[in-house]
Amino acid sequence: MKILVTGGAGFIGSHVVDLFVQNGHEVVILDNLSTGKADNVPDGVRLIEMDITNPDLDAIFARENFDAVNHHAAQIDVRISVNDPVFDAQVNILGSLNILECCLRHGVKKVQFASTGGALYGEQDYFPADEEHPIRPLSPYGIAKNTIERYLYYYHQVHGLEYAAMRYANVYGPRQNPHGEAGVVAIFCDRLIAGKEAVINGDGKQTRDYVYVGDVARASLLTLEPSLNTSMNIGTAVESDVNDIFRNLNAAGGFNVPEKHGPAKKGEQMRSVISWEKAKEVLRWEPTVYLEEGLKLTMEFFLGKYDRS
Ligand SMILES: NC(=O)c1ccc[n+]([C@@H]2O[C@H](COP(=O)([O-])OP(=O)(O)OC[C@H]3O[C@@H](n4cnc5c(N)ncnc54)[C@H](O)[C@@H]3O)[C@@H](O)[C@H]2O)c1
Repeated sequence: MKILVTGGAGFIGSHVVDLFVQNGHEVVILDNLSTGKADNVPDGVRLIEMDITNPDLDAIFARENFDAVNHHAAQIDVRISVNDPVFDAQVNILGSLNILECCLRHGVKKVQFASTGGALYGEQDYFPADEEHPIRPLSPYGIAKNTIERYLYYYHQVHGLEYAAMRYANVYGPRQNPHGEAGVVAIFCDRLIAGKEAVINGDGKQTRDYVYVGDVARASLLTLEPSLNTSMNIGTAVESDVNDIFRNLNAAGGFNVPEKHGPAKKGEQMRSVISWEKAKEVLRWEPTVYLEEGLKLTMEFFLGKYDRS
C-alpha cells in the first residue's frame, strides 16, 4: 500500500514508518519538524516538510494517490493545550480535519488515528478502563482527540471512509523527546545520563499504563487492512508509579542516584490504566514487551547503543 504517515519524523510515527517499510509498504512522511527530526526519517523514505493545517496539502493528495493515511502529527503537550486551547484546536482539530477532507476528496480508503486513553477517560470510575468507560477529558488536548474520533465516525457513516482509532496509554521507548513536558521515561533517562537532578513530582505514587513503542507501532500494522471502524485501547492494563520508573531506570543504567521528590503538580491525574481486551479480540494485538525490558531498551537508546533494525 502507499501510506502517508503524518508526524512520521516524531517518536511514535517514526517507529510506525520503520514497521511499514519492513513490511513492504511505500511510505511518505508529512511533518513540520516542530518536535520531530529529519534524522528519524529512514533512508529511502520521502519527507514532505509541511504543516497539517496548510491548504496546499490538497495538491499533495491529488498528486500522490495514497491508499491510507496514518495520522500521528499533533500538538502533544497537554499543558500547552490548557494554556493555549485555540492553538491546540488549530492543530489537533482543524489540522486533522484538513487531512480528513483531503482523504475524502482524493479517494483514500483508510485513516488510522493516534488517539489517547488516559487523557480521554479522565479520572477513572474503574480500573483498567475499557472502551465503554465514560469519556470525560480534562484538557483541550483530550477534547480534541475525542472530537476527531467523532469526526471519524461521521466520515465513515456518511461518506464511507474506513478508520481505526487507537487510544494509546503512556507510550515510551527509543526516540522519545526528553525535552518536552510529557514522557517521564525519556526525561529521567536524559537526566540520569547527564548526571543532572531528576525530580519526582509529589510522592511519585501517581500511576500510568506504560506501553512500549514497538508494541504501539504494531497496532498500526494490524489496523491497516481489516475493516474496523471503531476505537480501541492500546495499553498493558498494568499500573506503574513514577517511583517504579525511576528505580528501574536507575538500575538499567547502572546508576545509583538517590530519589528526590519535589512539590506535587496541581491537578495531575492520580491513576490511569486501560484494558486491551478489545484490541486482542479484534486485532489479536497484545503487549509483548514488559516494562523492565522496555525501560532497559530505552536506556540503551539514550546511552547511544540502539540498533534501528
Ligand atoms: N507519546 C504518548 O504517550 C502518546 C499517547 C497518546 C497519544 N499520542 C499521540 O501519538 C501521536 C504522536 O506522538 P509522539 O509522542 O510521537 O509525539 P512527537 O512530538 O514525537 O510526534 C509528533 C510529530 O508530529 C509533528 N507535528 C506536530 N505538529 C505538526 C503540524 N502542525 N503539522 C505537521 N507535523 C506536525 C512533529 O514534528 C512530530 O514529528 C500524537 O498524535 C499524540 O497525540 C501519544
